[in-house]
Amino acid sequence: MNSPKYRVFVCTKQRHPNDPEGSCHHCGATEIYQAFQDAIAERQLENQVELRCSGCLDRCEAGAVAMVFQPKRYEPSWLPSKIQKKLTANKVWYGRLSPADIPKLVESHLVNGKPLKQHQV
Ligand code: FES
Repeated sequence: MNSPKYRVFVCTKQRHPNDPEGSCHHCGATEIYQAFQDAIAERQLENQVELRCSGCLDRCEAGAVAMVFQPKRYEPSWLPSKIQKKLTANKVWYGRLSPADIPKLVESHLVNGKPLKQHQV
């Protein structure tokens, strides 16, 4: 696979059910991951989108959470890191996702390049 256009990270972190922080696992993360897999396959985006499970994405209160990252072809490593971060602010977090939301998210963000405002956190 060449460098993907997007990387999608689905938080599948599992904590004890009584943990006050909660976890995406208990908010349906496995089904979210499967819905992404299906929607990506349906649109034949396998060569453009890399889907991964991830640990906690630090938005636990908004579980289930996914993050869409658009890798830059060129990252100016010679710039100070503060400026680099501003230039490479290419991550979008989505939360309170359900499997029914994923086809619309994939169509809007991964096909049309327009992040879906509705579930951003
Ligand atoms: S457990 Fe999913 S964002 Fe923290």
